[in-house]
Amino acid sequence: MSAVPMHLNSAFDTGPWSRNHLARVEQALSQWVGVDAPAGLGDAMRYAVLDGGKRLRPLLVLAAHEAARSAAENADAAAQRAMDDAALRAACAVELIHAYSLVHDDMPCMDNDVLRRGKPTVHVQFGEAAALLAGDALQAFAFELLTPGDSDIPAAAQAALCRLLARAAGSAGMAGGQAIDLASVGVALTEDQLRRMHLLKTGALLQGSVLMGAVCGQASPTAYQALSDYGAAMGLAFQVVDDILDVVADSATLGKTAGKDAAADKPTYVSLLGLQQAQAYAQDLLTQAHAALARSGLPDARPLAALADMVVQRSY
Ligand code: IPE
Ligand code: IPE
Ligand code: MG
Ligand code: MG
Ligand code: MG
Repeated sequence: MSAVPMHLNSAFDTGPWSRNHLARVEQALSQWVGVDAPAGLGDAMRYAVLDGGKRLRPLLVLAAHEAARSAAENADAAAQRAMDDAALRAACAVELIHAYSLVHDDMPCMDNDVLRRGKPTVHVQFGEAAALLAGDALQAFAFELLTPGDSDIPAAAQAALCRLLARAAGSAGMAGGQAIDLASVGVALTEDQLRRMHLLKTGALLQGSVLMGAVCGQASPTAYQALSDYGAAMGLAFQVVDDILDVVADSATLGKTAGKDAAADKPTYVSLLGLQQAQAYAQDLLTQAHAALARSGLPDARPLAALADMVVQRSY
């Protein structure tokens, strides 16, 4: 009889794992973001990034890195340290892209939201031009972080990380999905069209986070493909649940305005399938994410499994 796969072992306590990794990410972001930016730009950048957010994407990078690394050949200590540095940089870089996407998503020309992470949105606090520039600068800084001048991170790994993040953020990912979102106001999308929109606008960056971690951990081709499948299912589940929370949660809990999707006549999984079927679909995607981990061959994917659970079971 085969042993229970580690990623299904519910004895894993995510608390200490998350706290430790969150502390590293917060410290790094606070040290790096917007420090020397002129004319108040740094204040808007730091306001957008620090002091709020679940930091799911950084945790996915770090969890995928550790899971892949645990299966890799023993690298020497210096090489290991370089890839640990790369993973922390990737974790912060993806959060910068995410934060920039939120700043722009909230602007009057997009979703016109006034509340984010429990605070006034960046354009409300600093003005629209500052919000636009803060987003621009956060995006650029993400790629600067991935390419440190004086580092032992191999050039090929730096390039691979940049390529993954650029794909996930650009027209084949977040920006493309946001374009579909804006073009879909008041439009009754088919389920295939809605899935594509969600996979791009939100799923791509979550999947990209997992794949950046896989690159840092030098995942085998089999593990990389399985992690890619995990990322796609979990990333889509994330936006399905975001659609559900927009309907069932309140603004104080979410830290952003509830009920926006129906008010703006956006097509969502709830408007397409109804609440119960949307919830069932999120569970189905969670099962797919776990199945992908099970075929990854990775010896310990428990943090990744726990993060997928969190994506679907979260209340904000
Ligand atoms: C919200 O993402 C925006 C979407 C992509 C749906 P999160 O729910 O991860 O936001 P924070 O980072 O925790 O604020
Ligand atoms: C946003 O989707 C996805 C992004 C790329 C930022 P939403 O517009 O549904 O995100 P929220 O609900 O405002 O966080
Ligand atoms: Mg939006
Ligand atoms: Mg929005
Ligand atoms: Mg939403």
